[in-house]
Amino acid sequence: MSIALKTPEEIEKMRIAGRLAGEVLDYVEPFVKPGVTTAELDRLCQDYMENVQGCVAAPLNYAPPGYPPYPKAICASVNHQVCHGVPNDRPLKKGDIVNLDITVIKDGWHGDTSRMFVVGNDASILAKRLCAITLECLWLGIGQVRPGAHLGDIGAAIQRHAESHGFSVVREFCGHGIGQHFHEEPQVLHYGKPHTGIVLQAGMTFTIEPMINAGKAAISELADGWTIVTKDRSLSAQWEHTLLVMPGGVEVLTLSAGCPPKPATLP
Ligand code: MF3
Ligand code: CO
Ligand code: CO
Repeated sequence: MSIALKTPEEIEKMRIAGRLAGEVLDYVEPFVKPGVTTAELDRLCQDYMENVQGCVAAPLNYAPPGYPPYPKAICASVNHQVCHGVPNDRPLKKGDIVNLDITVIKDGWHGDTSRMFVVGNDASILAKRLCAITLECLWLGIGQVRPGAHLGDIGAAIQRHAESHGFSVVREFCGHGIGQHFHEEPQVLHYGKPHTGIVLQAGMTFTIEPMINAGKAAISELADGWTIVTKDRSLSAQWEHTLLVMPGGVEVLTLSAGCPPKPATLP
């Protein structure tokens, strides 16, 4: 099946949705402190999206085939939770690492981005290293994006970096095309071989969102039907941006004022 290229008018709407998704993370960051619950962070984000930004929270009631409707407005995945963590009433504690994943719909168009937060700005060396290497993985993947590149170039760059640091890449979940639908073609794997997969063209929009584990790659799903955890209960990290393939390279659509920049450690 073919991948729709976005028109200039559609790209303008994707830029707006992307920036707004990033700004939700900017807004919530100061609230991510010891003692806060992920349910409180969910409530804060939903209120901001709906009542300040005039957006719809895409996750709420999202129900792909085989899944129950997602019950919350954001995903909050703590420590060994890999992704799709359902916000709950357990307080965060100093040293936890948490991924907050925000997807907004503005004017019918989606923006999808996630970041890691270190609760109390004090985690183990391993936890901080995992978060940093995973951010490098995201940006190494972004660095592959340009017309003429293959999708497999992205996965290969991510896998190489993660595994060279002794970490593993989750296989069951991937980045995705995005636009008027939350999840569109293509699937963007975070592992693979260079020069394989479809060729990128200007006007494609998709996410890159590597999930990297400190231990083994295997995952399990919790009984809520959504929350994914590492099978060995090792720590997991994830960062995500929504991207646009540009004639000359790539534009990151989910940048915002408070977004961590591309790490200076990278070329
Ligand atoms: N935001 C996630 C992604 O990056 C998807 C979450 S689906 C949900 O693709 F229903 F859990 F929100
Ligand atoms: Co996504
Ligand atoms: Co997301």
